[in-house]
Parts: sequence; C-alpha cells; structure tokens
Amino acid sequence: MLDLSVSLAGVTLKNPVVVASGTFGFGREYSQFYDLGELGGVCAKGLTLHPRTGNPAPRIAETPMGILNSVGLENPGVDAFISQELPFLRQFDTKIIANISGNTPEEYGVMCEKLSAAGVDMIEVNISCPNVKAGGLAYGTRPELAAEVTEMAKKHAGSVPVMVKLSPNVTDITEIAKAVEGAGADALSLINTIRGMRIDVNTRRPILKMNTGGLSGPAVLPVAVRMVWEVSQVVDLPILGMGGVSKGEDGAQLMLAGASAVAVGTALFADPFAPLKVRDELADIAGRQGLSAVRELTGGVRPW
Ligand code: SIN
Repeated sequence: MLDLSVSLAGVTLKNPVVVASGTFGFGREYSQFYDLGELGGVCAKGLTLHPRTGNPAPRIAETPMGILNSVGLENPGVDAFISQELPFLRQFDTKIIANISGNTPEEYGVMCEKLSAAGVDMIEVNISCPNVKAGGLAYGTRPELAAEVTEMAKKHAGSVPVMVKLSPNVTDITEIAKAVEGAGADALSLINTIRGMRIDVNTRRPILKMNTGGLSGPAVLPVAVRMVWEVSQVVDLPILGMGGVSKGEDGAQLMLAGASAVAVGTALFADPFAPLKVRDELADIAGRQGLSAVRELTGGVRPW
C-alpha cells in the first residue's frame, strides 16, 4: 500500500495535491463535481482586509499554453470569508489554507490574527500578486520587505503555520527565499504567475485592460521546476510547488526538484477533475518506481 500522505510545515495532508489559490474560489462550484475531502488541501481565493471588486475587464486572456490574468484580487474580504466561506469548507475532510494579500505589513498582521482565531490550517502569505499597485510584487521582489511582511505575519498567526508565496518575477528567487526563511516562515509556495502581455494587432490595444497580467498554465512549468530546485538547495523549509501542473508527471517533477506537495491551478479551468488525476498519476509513478510513500519523491532529482 503506497502512503500518499505528506507533511507541510507540520500539517499532514492526506495526499500531496492541493488546489492553488485563485483557481478554485472557495470550493462551492467544484464541490458539485466531487467531495473536496479527496484533496490534500484547498488554498482559498486570495483575501484582503476589505472587500475588493478587482481590476476592470478584460482581465483574462488565453495564450498558446496557458492564460494571462489581471484579476486584481477580487474577493469578499477576510471577515466575509470567516463568516460565510470557512464554515462551508470545514464540512470537508481536507486542510484549509487561507491566502492573504495586504497593502501594508500591518494589514497582513490583522488578517493573520483573524484567520488564526478562526482556525484555518495554514496561512499562505501572498507577496507576489503582479496585478495590484500597492503590496503584492512590491513586497515580493525586495528581500528586506519580504522579510518584514513575514515577520509581521508570524507575529500574529499564533500557532498557525505561515507559508510565503514567492514571485518568479525576480532576478534571483533564492535571495527572497532566504530572507523569508530568516524572518521565520514555516514553508514556501512557488511560483506565482510570470508577468506577461498580449496585444491585439488590429486595434494595437493590449488585450488586458490593465495592459499586463500574470501568465500561468503549462508554459510556466519548466520555470517552476527550475525555481523549486534552486530554492530547495538554499533553504530548509518545505515547499509547495506550483506552476503549470496538469498531470502526475508535472507534479512528480516538482517533487523531485524539492517540493513536499504540489498545487494544481490553471488546469482546473479545463478539467475540474485535474487535481484528482494528478493525485492518481503521482501515485502510479511512485508505485512504478517501487516507493512505499509518495513523499520519497521529494528532492530525489539526480542532477548531472
Ligand atoms: C489576482 O487576483 O490578480 C491574482 C492573484 C495573484 O497573482 O497573486
């Protein structure tokens, strides 16, 4: 019997597959397709201290191997999540990861305090949203600011583990990873989307109203694998790997590169069952390789 369970910062996931924040809402729509308890965890839609309507449309554009988004953190706010969405998610036997973005380090602190009191299993601190003016990438591209936000989150999260979501839009992701580890993070998640742009050649207008957006989907997988591999060599933290995962082999690559668990995101838009497919195919790969636990894949790459 293959053991599918993995540990992420002391939180036991029944299997290594979670759904990525921003691609699963708060689970209501997907719960019509299957029991969310089949998932290792659910990263809920990104939250801010106050409700946000997000960026003007168009804010999604297809690309040959993925999508560009500039959603701009549309969400009902942390209080509405706690009162209306968390009770719904709690019905399922899965781990609940709240994702938060703030305009200031203090806002991250306030949200951590509220979510910790509400009893989420983990908090994913987003310092990598490419689609907002304040916060977001401003924190995720500068080691000292990334550390400041992490410290604030840790100070207010109580016993709830803090996982920091890193941006690929940097020259050296290991610098940010080390800064965040030094500030006390319990885990890292990577990668968020890669900044991109599409232009309508007839109107000469960018397709997205905000001109640029974040690229996700199969096109970004090799970047994610490379970055997980680089980061895993310089920090001692567990990693939730993500970026373009749509099949078991993709997830296995991220685990071999050093991830303890993987998130499925954009693939959900084409196939709501993608996370379950990734889980089963990961199990097949581990089984074929004679492993007794899927976690044995983690860090198993044999570089030349
Ligand atoms: C968004 O809402 O714009 C996407 C969130 C993110 O990329 O972190």
